[in-house]
Amino acid sequence: MSNPRIAAASKNAIAEAAALLRAGRLVAFPTETVYGLGGDATSEPAVRAIYAAKGRPSDNPLIVHVPTVAAARRLVHFDARAAALAERFWPGPLTMVLPRRADCGIAAATSGGLETLAVRIPRHPLALDLLEAAALPLAAPSANPSGRVSPTTARHVAEGLGERVALILDGGPCAIGLESTVVGLAGATTLLLRPGGVTREALEAVLGPLALPPADKLLAPGMMASHYAPALPLRLGVSAPRSTEALLAFGPDVPAGAAHVLNLSECGDLEEAASRLFAYLRALDRADWQGIAVMPIPESGIGAAINDRLRRAAAPRPT
Ligand code: TXA
Ligand code: MG
Repeated sequence: MSNPRIAAASKNAIAEAAALLRAGRLVAFPTETVYGLGGDATSEPAVRAIYAAKGRPSDNPLIVHVPTVAAARRLVHFDARAAALAERFWPGPLTMVLPRRADCGIAAATSGGLETLAVRIPRHPLALDLLEAAALPLAAPSANPSGRVSPTTARHVAEGLGERVALILDGGPCAIGLESTVVGLAGATTLLLRPGGVTREALEAVLGPLALPPADKLLAPGMMASHYAPALPLRLGVSAPRSTEALLAFGPDVPAGAAHVLNLSECGDLEEAASRLFAYLRALDRADWQGIAVMPIPESGIGAAINDRLRRAAAPRPT
């Protein structure tokens, strides 16, 4: 696969990216969570090109990115919960699933044929500048092949998608490093569909107790068990790593014995760990050892999202 073009942030690069998007092409751009693979959310062919570039099943809907709350309100029906969450967390790593407006103009393929639409305002200056310049709502899933580890640098995007993307805007490493929290607000019960950059504790401070979706249902369409998967097998909650394993460590007390060690956070800071998680999973995914062992990580705060991604990365793979 030949190398796609990576452009450093500049007025010219943003103008070029906006022109490509308006012409129906795909552009990868940084957000505070992960890099997104952006396309015109109002164009059926552009949205189909996103699914094709990722190898993503067409029933796994995409998030639509907008620059302002007013723009979001033109796409979906807000209620009091949505208004309170937007006020508190936007721009930021929160995606809200809301009833889609009949006249929203968003391509049906974007929401996989559902009556709902996922919307978010990203908190990254380059993403916001691009949204303003393109003057389009942008459908943007994480910019990785479906099922693999999400990208937190421009280079990760280039390695995964190659020339399937017309241009990659480089905004450096993503500050949060894990995807947005997805909250379902289409029914009377508020559902936590995907843990992410906004913690459950922070959401509950605004809304009160949240419900998890029924355990026998997939969380959100496409949230199949195996996801975020490196090529090597993962072993979780490990206190005694094998000499044939690389160790993904957390905290100051690291057990001996692994072939190689990367520490997500020596001081045990969960936010630092989140920001490094995907880059370290990629770095440890080498044929030099037989597996990746992961130390236990606390479930509090953004730890819940870290453990969610690790469980999916460790889940049995479809063969
Ligand atoms: O942080 C993020 O959310 C990143 C950046 C680029 O914004 N995007 C991202 O997109 O993670 P993606 O496509 O990798 O994940 C979107 C998630 C999926 O689990 C999808 O099923 C869910 O959001 N989703 C999208 N639309 C939905 C809808 N209408 N109803 C329920 N879930 C939905
Ligand atoms: Mg993704």
